[in-house]
Amino acid sequence: MGDPLSTIKPAVRDLKPYTLKHFKAPVKINQNENPFDMPEAVKRAVHQAVFETAWCRYPDFVPASLISRLADFSHWKKEGVLVGNGSNELIEALMVVVVEKGKRVVIPQPTFTLYGMFARILGGDCREVPLRPDLEFDGPRLLREAREADLTILCLPNNPTGGVLDRDDLESILRQAGGLVVVDEAYHEFSGQSVAPLLERFENLVVLRTFSKAMSMAALRVGYLLGRPELVEQVAKAKLPYNLNVFSMTAASAALEHFELLKPQIERVIAERDRLWEGLSRIPGVEPFPSRANFMVFRLATDPGMVFRALCEEGILVRDVSRYPMLGQFLRVSVGLPRENDRFLEALSRIMKSQSAVIPA
Ligand SMILES: Cc1ncc(COP(=O)(O)O)c(C=O)c1O
Repeated sequence: MGDPLSTIKPAVRDLKPYTLKHFKAPVKINQNENPFDMPEAVKRAVHQAVFETAWCRYPDFVPASLISRLADFSHWKKEGVLVGNGSNELIEALMVVVVEKGKRVVIPQPTFTLYGMFARILGGDCREVPLRPDLEFDGPRLLREAREADLTILCLPNNPTGGVLDRDDLESILRQAGGLVVVDEAYHEFSGQSVAPLLERFENLVVLRTFSKAMSMAALRVGYLLGRPELVEQVAKAKLPYNLNVFSMTAASAALEHFELLKPQIERVIAERDRLWEGLSRIPGVEPFPSRANFMVFRLATDPGMVFRALCEEGILVRDVSRYPMLGQFLRVSVGLPRENDRFLEALSRIMKSQSAVIPA
């Protein structure tokens, strides 16, 4: 046999791996997580319920009670709900059932890396639509591309830039798209808006959501998909059996049941986001861009790699997005606890002062 690596698809060999270097940092504001943990009362209830469950048995093949809760929570029919081991699994399952060689996939850029990665692994023909210079979506251009596409993926609010698509533009895309339109709502709770009510009107709409962000459950890996039941049945063919374990299932149900405890935490994150934006906009040489999510990007008048490293030395970990298209001068920060945001703003202000740089007009 020749080189066994030659059996790997060229499209896969050409890809850069999706990975994240792990630095231990006291202030970790790099992954768009919720800085507020799941309230203790909910954690205790979940522990107790899991303790009373037999671990030697498989979980239910279809987690009917979680699905039913999700349907009520999302005001959608339960046959149109699919749960996943994080929404990443559902992005993959959806791509697997749609994308093959020659299928056209429209993806704004920059956006969440996984869409393009899976589409390319599956041989899809990726059409990238750049954001506008103000880092907002280019609605008319997306519409033109979506007309010819088998799959159009929109992340609303967009990771990493935080923008949302104008509602009229979205409806035009849904009305005229050549195929499915997937809206990844991983951060929708922070934006105060959702496209889920459009599911009744548009059969080509698929909505993805996660428990990893506003729901404070990134460690437990739960996501869900909403779509018309016939479509969900097809996507379900590509997910693994028993993809959700009993712990995650129980915790997701408990989070929904006690959502009134999570809501104030989400509101605090939103208030902190606005305070963080104000703070950043007061630092010379730093230009934050408005965001509807729990993170934001900011442009630097100096080398972002240098600022990233200087923050790391102070124990503050943000995300260096300077290799993303259009973001060569940017870093991304997630909203942390108030004291973490203060520490970040103070450190960044000091670092920038030592650079004495200003954004060119
Ligand atoms: C836009 C977007 N979608 C999906 C995910 C993944 O979510 P999950 O943890 O549910 O797999 C992320 C995580 O960062 C994300 O930013």
